[in-house]
Order: sequence, then C-alpha cells, then structure tokens
Amino acid sequence: MQLLGNRKILLGITGGIAAYKAAELVRLLTRAGAEVRVVMTPAAQEFVQPLTYQALSGHRVYTDLFDAEAESAMDHIELARWCDLLVVAPASADFLGKMSAGYADNLLLTLCLASKQPVAVAPAMNQQMFANPATRDNLRQLIGRGVLVWGPDEGEQACGDVGPGRMLEPAQLLNNILSQFGPGKLDGVRLLLTAGPTREPIDPVRYISNRSSGKMGYAIAEAAMKQGARVTLVSGPVFLAPPFGVELVAVESAQQMYEAVMGEVADCEIFIACAAVSDYRVAETAQHKIKKTGEVLTLQLVPNPDILAEVSALQARPFCVGFAAETENLEQYARGKLQQKNLDMIAANRVGSAGSGFEADFNQLEVYWIDGGQSIEHAGKSEVAKQLIDLIAERYTRARS
Ligand code: PMT
Repeated sequence: MQLLGNRKILLGITGGIAAYKAAELVRLLTRAGAEVRVVMTPAAQEFVQPLTYQALSGHRVYTDLFDAEAESAMDHIELARWCDLLVVAPASADFLGKMSAGYADNLLLTLCLASKQPVAVAPAMNQQMFANPATRDNLRQLIGRGVLVWGPDEGEQACGDVGPGRMLEPAQLLNNILSQFGPGKLDGVRLLLTAGPTREPIDPVRYISNRSSGKMGYAIAEAAMKQGARVTLVSGPVFLAPPFGVELVAVESAQQMYEAVMGEVADCEIFIACAAVSDYRVAETAQHKIKKTGEVLTLQLVPNPDILAEVSALQARPFCVGFAAETENLEQYARGKLQQKNLDMIAANRVGSAGSGFEADFNQLEVYWIDGGQSIEHAGKSEVAKQLIDLIAERYTRARS
C-alpha cells in the first residue's frame, strides 16, 4: 500500500554524522510512495555527498541559496510552497540555534522561514550539547512556535558518549511522518497522567519511597502525545527527561501530587494513574536530622489521599485508568481495585521480580474493564505504552459515543 502516495516531503539535512541515516529515510519515504526533495546545508555536504540522496530520491539535490540552475528549476519560495511537510533530519545544535533565532543564511534555513507547511526537526547531537540550556531553550522556543520536535533518542553516540542526542531511527521518523497525515486516535484530547514514585519526608535528609523509575509513565505520556493528546504529566522525582511537548508538573510527596492533580483535572478528559504513590506518610516530619540513639525508633505513619479514587469520585469526572502493581492474585486484586475505585479500566502488572514492572525496561500488562479485558504481551515499555494507549483510545471513544 502506498501509505504516503502523492505526499510531498521536503527533507532537510544538516551537518552531523546522522546524515548517513537520512539516506535510509529517503529510501523508506520513496518506498511509502512519497515524492521526496532533499535540501542540504553546506555542513551536511561535509558528511555525505549530495549524489547519494539524488540517487535515492530520483531528483537533484538542492544545496545553494544562490544556485542559478536550481533557481530556474524551482526557486526557494516555490520549494517551500511545494511540500506538504518539511522535515529536518538530522537537525544539528547549530542549525536549531539559527532556526530559533530566525536566521536565513543558507537555503534550508530560508525554506524553514518561508514554509507555511508544518515543519518537523529531528535533533541529533552530542548528549552534552543536547543537555546544554542553550539548546533546550532553542527547542522550547521552536516548540512554542509550532515546530514539531521528534526525538532525540538515547543510547551510544558516535563520539563514544552515552545519553540522549541520537537521531530517531529512520523507521520511527517514517512513523511520525505517517501520523502527520492520518488522524491521531486522541487528537486534541486533554490527558492527565501521574508517573514515578513519591517521597515522604522523615526529616530534612531522609524519606520513604519506592523503586518506580517513571519509565512506564513517561512512555505512556509519549505514546499519548503521538496520538495527538495534549498531555500533562505530574511526576514524582525521576532521572528521565520528559518527552518534548508534554507539560511537566514536578512534585515530590503524595500530598503535592494530589494537589497538582486536583489543580489540573478540571478540563481533562482522560486521567491515567501510573505513579507508585506512597500509601502512607510520616505523621510528623522532624524539623532537624534525627540523631542516632541506639534505641528502637518508631515512626508513626498516616494514610495519604488516594489520588485516583478522589479523581474518580469527582462529579464531572474524566475517563479514569488505574494501574495495579501486584505480586500475586493479579486479576482478583486488580478487579477489586477497578470496582472499589470505580474506574473505567485498570492495567495490572506483576511486580517484585526482574524483567518487568518497577525499574525494568520491559513490562507486561493485563488490562481489565468491568465486562472484559485484554493482555498486552511482554515488550519494551514504549511498545507496551503504545498498545495501552490504543486500547484506552478505543474504550474512551466507545464510552463517549
Ligand atoms: O515507574 P516504573 O519503574 O516504570 O514502574 C512502573 C510501575 C510498576 C510503577 C507501574 O507500572 C505501576 O504499576 N504503577 C502503579 C503502582 C501502584 O502504586 O499500584 P497500586 O496497586 O498500589 O495502586 C493502585 C492505583 O492507585 C494506581 O493507579 C496508583 O497510581 C493509584 N494510587 C495509589 C495510592 C494513592 N495514594 N494514590 C493513587 O492514586
């Protein structure tokens, strides 16, 4: 099937080692039926010859703002008008900086300024450069102007560093491009999500917490966003960067999480509680560090508010999806929570062993609703999140109709 039949994609390539991956992207796009024109910055040509993309796209490659031959074939304004989508992949830190400042000193920057069509960038750079506040500010500014930011991925980099900064794989970029031309399953839906652990202070330096890494919740935030949802993520302390485009509300304790959720829930249509919220907190947090005495120390714990139950008890309540983390009797306990908390759906995961649940990169879910259920097979948390969001979208749409 020609998934992108008749679609016109202008692919901008900037200077970075990931330029070689853009060749695969051109191949995937043309195989999907798209008509692809490639524009390269001068720096990109230091990495890959234009001839590579010319051979793969079947069209001459545009490189020069003042190229008389290209101008006569299609000038830069015409090229900007021609495309349905402009994708810059890889987008270097330098390019993103110039783009956010509105520079137009090469052909690709000019096209970004001149295009009325959606523009997407796939950042690719060293992880330290990506972490630099200047780069983050540039991306934030671009997002604020409606530029789509796809990625980056995490992993080993060409320079030997490990971290976020790798360009998304061409197959993933193709998926993102496809989703631009098809309706998202949650287009415009406001989705509120909790993720990560909470920390319940004992004294100024100690707290009670749990092993939640936030990976499952952050993957759900990203999957929902890819389906067009407007996502607000209320997160306990984790070591993850929020997906770009997701609004993050960072909290520490269960009480703070409760207050943040209650402050955001009013106009939200779907609520997903993936956080591992501490059921109890210390009755009285010590003002100063508790001294060791050699005596038995007793901490009195009092219950925290049950955020999910409180949201689901609201009069104007969103579609409520809970999680159940169980070490035994998965279905029985999960269905119990589904009923007690009056939920629309619950996603149960087995916890307490390596390979899924807390901290792991993988998970497996049994999803239940009042008169049915569905399994999501053991897979990476991104894939599990994608399937869970598909299922939630299906049941949410059904509940509304
Ligand atoms: O973060 P990761 O390392 O990726 O791990 C993911 C996970 C295992 C934490 C996640 O998949 C998960 O199971 N999250 C829910 C953990 C949990 O607290 O489950 P529970 O069965 O104790 O709570 C039931 C539901 O009530 C949950 O939706 C929970 O968010 C919610 N709850 C619980 C207590 C409370 N005070 N407020 C709540 O909202």
